[in-house]
Amino acid sequence: MPRNVVVTGSGSGIGAALTALFRDRGDRVIGVDLHGGDIEADLSTPDGRAAAASAAADAAGGVVDAIVTCAGTSVPGTAMITVNYFGTTEFLTAMRPALAAAEQPRVVAIGSISGTRAHDPEVVAACLAGDETTALHHAELAVADGRARQLYPSSKAALAQWARRTAVAEGWADAGIPANVVAPGIVLTPMSAGLFDDPQMRKVMDAAVPMPLNGYLRPEDVARAVLFLASEDNSHITGQVVYVDGGAEVTLRGPADF
Ligand SMILES: NC(=O)c1ccc[n+]([C@@H]2O[C@H](COP(=O)([O-])OP(=O)(O)OC[C@H]3O[C@@H](n4cnc5c(N)ncnc54)[C@H](O)[C@@H]3O)[C@@H](O)[C@H]2O)c1
Repeated sequence: MPRNVVVTGSGSGIGAALTALFRDRGDRVIGVDLHGGDIEADLSTPDGRAAAASAAADAAGGVVDAIVTCAGTSVPGTAMITVNYFGTTEFLTAMRPALAAAEQPRVVAIGSISGTRAHDPEVVAACLAGDETTALHHAELAVADGRARQLYPSSKAALAQWARRTAVAEGWADAGIPANVVAPGIVLTPMSAGLFDDPQMRKVMDAAVPMPLNGYLRPEDVARAVLFLASEDNSHITGQVVYVDGGAEVTLRGPADF
């Protein structure tokens, strides 16, 4: 049976690869993106998120079988918080009724191996409290202090914790909605392309994200892992952060941390 699938960030990289995979299976994809989606919306603002959720639910006739949130940015600045964290969590929260209306709904959010790295605890705490104003205040302080690069790991650490908490909160697992995070290592997409231009930057990146198994990911490698978690075949996995990272997480954190 074709399913109604919503993919944010469908216009590029992982979201585009996933959209193609779902469509190959015969699913109906409703893509949401700043540019080039079926629904064009700016997930960095509360109004943009609300409009996107309402348009996506309408386009699906009120029943959404799966959502995968890929929209994100790595441009150092506050958009890392407004898009990567609130653009995911508020969108998913607004979509919960349409998910609950489906027979076997599934949610996958794209996190990152970066979520395991040093982050700004005040930004993470404000995100998890749902306080965007305070999160942005701390994010602006980080930018002013030259710590803007911490905002990406902060957004992904907060997202992983939100998903783990939400997965077992009322209205999710007990409503039959599994919610997981796929956390990739380095993926060859427009987001990472600039990092490969400078050999010095590439060295730093390879040391920060060591990937002994099969090297860098292609977007379709990530998409295939997502596809299982977003399918009906995933009956019992929820609240998990699944590292699709060629061994980076275990290399960095060691075998005891899981
Ligand atoms: N590329 C990597 O190495 C890598 C590694 C780990 C995690 N990720 C994560 O994977 C996800 C997808 O990234 P990608 O590599 O495919 O990047 P990408 O830049 O190719 O795609 C990101 C998409 O998000 C959309 N987007 C950005 N801001 C938006 C906004 N305000 N509103 C709506 N849409 C917006 C963009 O238009 C784009 O289509 C992101 O969450 C990213 O953080 C990427």
